Amino acid sequence: MTDPHTHDPHTARLTEAFERTLAADERVEPRDWMPDAYRATLIRQIAQHAHSEIIGMQPEANWITRAPSLRRKAILIAKVQDEAGHGLYLYGAAETLGVARADLLDALHEGRQRYSSIFNYPTLTWADVGAIGWLVDGAAITNQVPLCRCSYGPYARAMVRVCKEESFHQRQGYELLLALARGTDAQRAMAQDAIDRWWWPSLMMFGPPDAESPHTRQSMAWKIKRHSNDELRQRFVDICVPQAESLGLTLPDPALRWNEERGHYDHGPIDWAEFKAVLRGAGPCNEQRLEQRRRAHAEGAWVREAAAAHADKQRERRAEQEVVAV
Ligand SMILES: [Fe+2]
Ligand SMILES: [Fe+2]
Repeated sequence: MTDPHTHDPHTARLTEAFERTLAADERVEPRDWMPDAYRATLIRQIAQHAHSEIIGMQPEANWITRAPSLRRKAILIAKVQDEAGHGLYLYGAAETLGVARADLLDALHEGRQRYSSIFNYPTLTWADVGAIGWLVDGAAITNQVPLCRCSYGPYARAMVRVCKEESFHQRQGYELLLALARGTDAQRAMAQDAIDRWWWPSLMMFGPPDAESPHTRQSMAWKIKRHSNDELRQRFVDICVPQAESLGLTLPDPALRWNEERGHYDHGPIDWAEFKAVLRGAGPCNEQRLEQRRRAHAEGAWVREAAAAHADKQRERRAEQEVVAV
């Protein structure tokens, strides 16, 4: 964790203070000095997280008009709105690191920054809304709970609120699947099919295996990340197996079994070739997701302009009032 500029005594002192903050498990705040690489890592991670929240609205929003009841529609609308809110908190957290939201969105639209590959899979049936809530939001919580203790203050604080909302998302998905699992044969089959399609991509959400994860060691030293990809993936598998049992549905992995010695469930091999292909842009919906995002951004231009004009007007009025008061 040494900085290449430590020969400069001023930077050396700043670096020392930064390291002391980390060692004491205190938070690094926007005005504090931080190494450039720490800042760049956080910008990359928070931006990718923010992009995932707003792209993640698409697969589920696809079902709002077709939700089977008013209750389900209200729940789904609330959930999709929450994801928009998560995007806002996270773009706000990224801005405290000195980047502009407009630039981050450009990077997303031009394919220079990524979002989670999970959202490049299609939502084929209503049961997919349940499987996403249970598995995708469930995996997100497993990833994000430790981020509440991330060393960067604004990111950690955003995560506290995000995690509370994510746990509602996870439960609504589980409850939806439970209703289908207790329904007709066709409904049960639909729920099982959704789980069959979403299980493996959910495991991939934790990222590549530790041995192939280039950033993990540094991120853990900086206390941005608290656990490795494989540890978090294992935690998620251990949580899901008994939940699948209570649903009366099966996870599509014949190798899944309790390992007494390890005190964890073993699982079968993950198809990393598929993961890499989706990451490269060859997933079923990559193009569609980005195109829809670009279109939404273009169609929202007038809202951004109006908001900026309103803010200018407010500022001018305040300035005038101050002149009068003087
Ligand atoms: Fe979210
Ligand atoms: Fe969510």
